[in-house]
Amino acid sequence: MNVLITGIAGFIGSSTARELLKKGNCNIIGIDNFNDYYNPKFKEENIRDLKIKLYRCDIRDINKLKQIFHENKIEKIIHLASMVGVRYSITNPLIYEEVNIKGTLNLLELAKEYKCKKIVFSSSSSIYGNNKKIPFSEEDNVSPISPYAATKRSAEILCHTYHMLYQIPIICLRFFTVYGPSGRPDMAPYKFTEKILNNQEIEVYGDGTAKRDYTYITDIVYGIIKSLDIDIGYKIINLGDNNPVELNKLISLIGKNLNKKPKIIFKEPQIGDVEQTYADIRAAKTLLGYEPKVKIKEGIELLCHWYLKNRAGSN
Ligand SMILES: NC(=O)c1ccc[n+]([C@@H]2O[C@H](COP(=O)([O-])OP(=O)(O)OC[C@H]3O[C@@H](n4cnc5c(N)ncnc54)[C@H](O)[C@@H]3O)[C@@H](O)[C@H]2O)c1
Repeated sequence: MNVLITGIAGFIGSSTARELLKKGNCNIIGIDNFNDYYNPKFKEENIRDLKIKLYRCDIRDINKLKQIFHENKIEKIIHLASMVGVRYSITNPLIYEEVNIKGTLNLLELAKEYKCKKIVFSSSSSIYGNNKKIPFSEEDNVSPISPYAATKRSAEILCHTYHMLYQIPIICLRFFTVYGPSGRPDMAPYKFTEKILNNQEIEVYGDGTAKRDYTYITDIVYGIIKSLDIDIGYKIINLGDNNPVELNKLISLIGKNLNKKPKIIFKEPQIGDVEQTYADIRAAKTLLGYEPKVKIKEGIELLCHWYLKNRAGSN
């Protein structure tokens, strides 16, 4: 089976490709533009050992995408390429529209033309906004409060439209704060590990009681790969841990693992940040057999261990 992974050099893309290759029943075609939202050197490292056919390409470039689909018989797509990050989207909204909406539409058009059998799309818990009802369920009305979240919701709707028009099976997975080895340097678990280890101050927006449903990378990868194989038409599915953790608790766990005392500076909450995320994962359990296995204590231990071995001293 030929599987296209967009955003393959990123955190989730490279972790998914590695696991799929271990299973051994597919050829992977990868697309990434190695943008500099964070250090592209880390992206190169993420895929260095992977046996994949790599295209350094931007998903906004429909002509290049056409060439890739023409050259490879792509059967299934895992679409992870995206402008990421809530805060950056508030100051740079236009590029989020171009990549997350237009780029997704380009892929949907080609999936239609080349009769692809499945698309797994990476959506986000951020689209729930400050949902008052917890845990967040796929049936809840959503109210995105950042351009990033709004573009993810728009892409979900486009996926639904293409499913209705052309019967392409599409699963939109709403990931909840993913962390672990090869994690994103802009996200709290990695960023705080780096700063605490280097005795630097960490900035906390708000009083540190904001909660996130931190979800370990191997659990997310399980959900993605499982979604490739089930046939359920169009479906939105939460992938979370179902166990929200306060930011203060996350920081103290990192400190303990590194044997350091975190130096925290509390700042005003930032616009666009939500107060908490909390996934209802009943759909994932029923449809994907999903059961998050790595809990926060173990996950942070694994992250710190990986960081010390692979990233301490780099920037
Ligand atoms: N990490 C999380 O907690 C989280 C949570 C919710 C949703 N997601 C979604 O999961 C997906 C993967 O996220 P990640 O954490 O691995 O991020 P990442 O930044 O590590 O990976 C995204 C990759 O996409 C590539 N990319 C960006 N724009 C591109 C373009 N125009 N053309 C081609 N490639 C492009 C980047 O270079 C990067 O390698 C994203 O769609 C993200 O929005 C992630």
